[in-house]
Amino acid sequence: MGFKVMGVSAGRNDSNCDILLKEALLACQEQGAEITMINLHDYELDDCTGCTSCTMGMSMGKHTGCALDKKDDKKRIMEVLLDQDAVIFAAPTFALMPSSLYLKFMHRNLAYETAFLTKIGAIQHRDRVGALIAVGGSSRSWQSMTLECMQASTFSNSFKIVDMYTATMVPAPAQVLLHDEKLARAREIGQNVMKALNTPVEERTWLGEPDAGWCPNCHSNCLCLGEPQWRGLQYPIECAVCGAGGDLVKTDDGKWKFVIAANGLERDRTSEEGRGVHCDEIADTQGGFFMDPQKRSTVAEKSEKYKQIIFKGI
Ligand SMILES: Cc1cc2nc3c(=O)[nH]c(=O)nc-3n(C[C@H](O)[C@H](O)[C@H](O)COP(=O)(O)O)c2cc1C
Repeated sequence: MGFKVMGVSAGRNDSNCDILLKEALLACQEQGAEITMINLHDYELDDCTGCTSCTMGMSMGKHTGCALDKKDDKKRIMEVLLDQDAVIFAAPTFALMPSSLYLKFMHRNLAYETAFLTKIGAIQHRDRVGALIAVGGSSRSWQSMTLECMQASTFSNSFKIVDMYTATMVPAPAQVLLHDEKLARAREIGQNVMKALNTPVEERTWLGEPDAGWCPNCHSNCLCLGEPQWRGLQYPIECAVCGAGGDLVKTDDGKWKFVIAANGLERDRTSEEGRGVHCDEIADTQGGFFMDPQKRSTVAEKSEKYKQIIFKGI
């Protein structure tokens, strides 16, 4: 049976994201994959309201779904998206990060958190491959958080990201068509997705530029100083995306390198085990709050003061 590969674009219709995504998907189709592609502009999608009913349910061992399930197209899309072997996401950069449409769609994935749902026995684990395409009018410098935010938003559904690409300097609609090398790189994304799908799950690995980014685990270019995490774990330096912990080390040729500590992948957000720790954290902090009548009544009492304060709006 052929593989199912889906493309999700958040760019303008028929513009740079769509074109690069189609080029990648064509490479998959040529190798026998069944292709589905959507552009998020064509759907009705509501913002996550932050109600947390999904994680509240999960922390009590229930699969409640999303409170907006019947209100927009998200559930309909997810039923197809989660039935894929691989998904390639393409998003335009707005203010250094993926556009709000992309983020709006992906933030709703919390209701489908595979680590949580697998942990409570609500779903069967499924291995999925993913790849990312970011598009912007400027250089990588002005797209500094796009791939990083895109990758962070794919964790919830356990996509193993095998390749990612930033297409730079293409601000105008469909301008990418002037750059054969960018189209070729997008095609390579599709080829790498197929290569990963044809590799046994346990041997699937990163297929993009070997030295891409600072982090050897998720290849992000974003590091930050470590601060104490839940239950005190702390590293000198952390990857802002996958949470790998370690330190900067000077190599023999005088360059800096991020070296992951022996316990640095304990809370690796790209793995279900790592995110499972976060699941325990939420059960402790959120579940612990809702299960404690004393805490709830204190908050209800103290909230009154702030509810009475109404500042001038617009
Ligand atoms: C509100 C807005 C903000 C943008 N911010 C950035 C940016 O920070 N960096 C960048 O490289 N391009 C930025 N761009 C340019 C878009 O990323 C660019 O036009 C891209 O080609 C859009 O992709 P599309 O053609 O697939 O829609 C911005 C565009 C808009 C409309």
